[in-house]
Amino acid sequence: MEEQVQGLRELIGREDKFVNSKFISVASGKGGVGKTNFAVNFAYTLANTFGKKVLLIDADIGMANVHILLNTDVSRSIKKFLDGSKVEDLVVSIKGFDAIFGFSGIDSIAELEDFRVHRMIYELNRISQKYDYVIIDNSPGIGEKVISFLRASNTSYIITTPEPTSIMDSYAVIKSLYKLYGYSRFKIVVSMCKRKFEEKDVFDKLNFSANKFLNINLELAGKLSFSKNLEKCVKEKKLIAEVYPSDPYTIDLKEIASKEVGEPAPEKNTNFWEKVLNFLKERV
Ligand SMILES: Nc1ncnc2c1ncn2[C@@H]1O[C@H](COP(=O)(O)OP(=O)(O)OP(=O)(O)O)[C@@H](O)[C@H]1O
Ligand SMILES: [Mg+2]
Repeated sequence: MEEQVQGLRELIGREDKFVNSKFISVASGKGGVGKTNFAVNFAYTLANTFGKKVLLIDADIGMANVHILLNTDVSRSIKKFLDGSKVEDLVVSIKGFDAIFGFSGIDSIAELEDFRVHRMIYELNRISQKYDYVIIDNSPGIGEKVISFLRASNTSYIITTPEPTSIMDSYAVIKSLYKLYGYSRFKIVVSMCKRKFEEKDVFDKLNFSANKFLNINLELAGKLSFSKNLEKCVKEKKLIAEVYPSDPYTIDLKEIASKEVGEPAPEKNTNFWEKVLNFLKERV
């Protein structure tokens, strides 16, 4: 078993030399804070506004629901891969990016036999090399699997709402990762913001604790405004970034993506009447 792991490490290490992909984990302390909506719309924005090659992986084993937001089925689940298909067969190209919805149908990672997990990791590593960004949507909290994804990621976006319980739970995630593994590459996204500069207050609270008790500095990625249109999109299985390009949520998302990529969002060549139409559509 140890030999197997060592062999895999060497294989991955050899291929890693050519990898420029950036791995981003999306996580939270508390559930239901907007992770999956952020992950899917972020993938969409990086691909369609910034022209990046993006792979989105749904790693929420118990409650995989990326495919629901994308209004597609999960016929290409990881189960198929375990039955011997190539990892490429799991990849679904949709709305300008690729996605693996894969982990649904499997209740726990413990269900997978070790050698299959190793093959899966090796294959995911191989396929990830084609992308600028690999975005991983995680389950809430800090289960073993979430920790393994977070600590391996270049950046972990921690999604919190302004609720005190959500802020406290976010701090618990940060503290665990830092205390256990010295990991501190966190970016904070304050979701469901209802008033101006609310994200600053939330971030200051989190960063104050991180500074004082852990001696680390966090980074504010940005805010995501509370949006009725987002709730509507979830019900209708649509992407807000696609159907409501001028909704405050979509604009916030573009700002976060712009910071991530390190370049401003290109001006879209929308003409006057298109802008009027978009405005009217979004007011309905
Ligand atoms: N910015 C927002 N404005 C309004 N409602 C929102 C916003 N973000 C999320 N929601 C609401 O919260 C619900 C849960 O969102 P989402 O599934 O993205 O959360 P999650 O953190 O992935 O949940 P889980 O922890 O269960 O995986 C959405 O269906 C939507 O109704
Ligand atoms: Mg989710």
